[in-house]
Amino acid sequence: MMSDKLIIFDTTLRDGEQSPGASMTKDEKVRIALALEKLRVDVIEAGFPAASLGDFTAVEAVAKAIKTATVCALSRALQKDIDQAAAALKMAERARIHTFIATSPIHMEKKLRMTPNDVVAQAVFAVKHARQYTDDVEFSPEDAGRSELDFLCRILEAVIAAGAKTVNIPDTVGYNLPHQFGGLIHNLIHRIPNADQAIFSVHCHNDLGLAVANSLAAVQNGARQVECTINGLGERAGNASLEEVVMAVRTRQDIFTCNTQIDSTQILTASRLVSNITGFAVQPNKAIVGENAFAHESGIHQDGVLKHRETYEIMRAEEVGWGANRMVLGKHSGRNAFRDRLKTLGCVFNSDEDLNAAFARFKDLADKKHEIYDDDLQALVSDTFATENERIRLVHLKGETETGEQPHAEITLSVDGQETTVDATGSGLVDATYKAIEAIINSGWHLQIYSVKNVTNGTDAQGEVNVRLDKNGIILTGHGADTDIIKASAKAYVNALNKTFNLEQRTHPQV
Ligand code: KIV
Ligand code: ZN
Repeated sequence: MMSDKLIIFDTTLRDGEQSPGASMTKDEKVRIALALEKLRVDVIEAGFPAASLGDFTAVEAVAKAIKTATVCALSRALQKDIDQAAAALKMAERARIHTFIATSPIHMEKKLRMTPNDVVAQAVFAVKHARQYTDDVEFSPEDAGRSELDFLCRILEAVIAAGAKTVNIPDTVGYNLPHQFGGLIHNLIHRIPNADQAIFSVHCHNDLGLAVANSLAAVQNGARQVECTINGLGERAGNASLEEVVMAVRTRQDIFTCNTQIDSTQILTASRLVSNITGFAVQPNKAIVGENAFAHESGIHQDGVLKHRETYEIMRAEEVGWGANRMVLGKHSGRNAFRDRLKTLGCVFNSDEDLNAAFARFKDLADKKHEIYDDDLQALVSDTFATENERIRLVHLKGETETGEQPHAEITLSVDGQETTVDATGSGLVDATYKAIEAIINSGWHLQIYSVKNVTNGTDAQGEVNVRLDKNGIILTGHGADTDIIKASAKAYVNALNKTFNLEQRTHPQV
């Protein structure tokens, strides 16, 4: 009998972080992990500890913070990777080691330069080694989507016999079509003699825009774990989006014989948090979490929805957290109300100083903006965390613009406590501000993307600025929010520049 539970394995912190420019700090990862726990995901893949010291300590911190979900660490099928994964997971209440090796002819021959026999032996060794640390071991044949069926059956049978409790089938390069991928899962489950001793999982990439469709086809054919990410973040075109998989299965219970334990009302909060932290904006027409996902523009649709909601709506917006963006706090709200509301939004402060810093900013914002919404609070908190421990700090900014004159900015930055003031002109105030910052820092980084978006409606709304910088193929993002968009722009640029101090050499798991 197939289980009716669909396990949600979130890999936002691992594969999601492999999106160029989406790297997260340890504290940011813990904040996202706590939001994922609130969302009630079953497994949180927290990172790849062998990649760098930063990755190791982030997995360790997530393992310590999470109480109910399983915390998983990725490792290549190498003894040293597995040992590091186990060490990083030491504090976890529930720990999983996820080990993988490539199985497609092209990967085995060109990348690994190993024979199929050696790959099977290495996979079995890795699973047995990981089982010395935990009973919860997952194995992935990387590039399974382009591997030969007979070889997949052989290696999966061997790793299940060696103790793998979950076998995950990745469509690493997003090559498969739904009927084909569903067929692959069906064949594996029916052909592998010990298939009933493991849970079959899928991990689909979105290169052809089919990651969610392929994952759902796999679920219909017996997969009982889906690996996915918030907002579909992930390597290249991303992974299957958690919110789409969860809501498809929930909405189409007439088709699916399983369901998840996700608290869907937390979806929007998690989506906004990930977007704020990574600086990856959610497109307006993105299913479930896009600004327009539940907005009806045409008169006929609006009329229909008013008469009977189901005429044009297949889900309720409230089910995924929309409509909960209440005006909650104002100028007269106290610290406790502020802290409680943020707790509901998944933001917990590590210390009284952090709370006080955020509260001071809240008071400042409440002076400028009458009504404070949840979105404002999230932007404000992201901004507070982003400026913690920064070596470069924005001290003062003055901008002048006049018809017929060149815009002009004067800026004071503190770098390691030393203040410098310069002024610069530019084609606009943002350009002048960025030129002034560069006159002080002389970073050599190139501004690749600049975007500004209003957090809520009205001309007194906060503007949220995201920037992406690149140098020698390395990408960094920065984020800033303020009711003054020139200030928000300066904060975003300074935030990105601060990240240049913490660049670490990292090993990519799949290289
Ligand atoms: O896409 C992939 O194959 C992966 C594996 C490491 C599971 O991310
Ligand atoms: Zn992947």
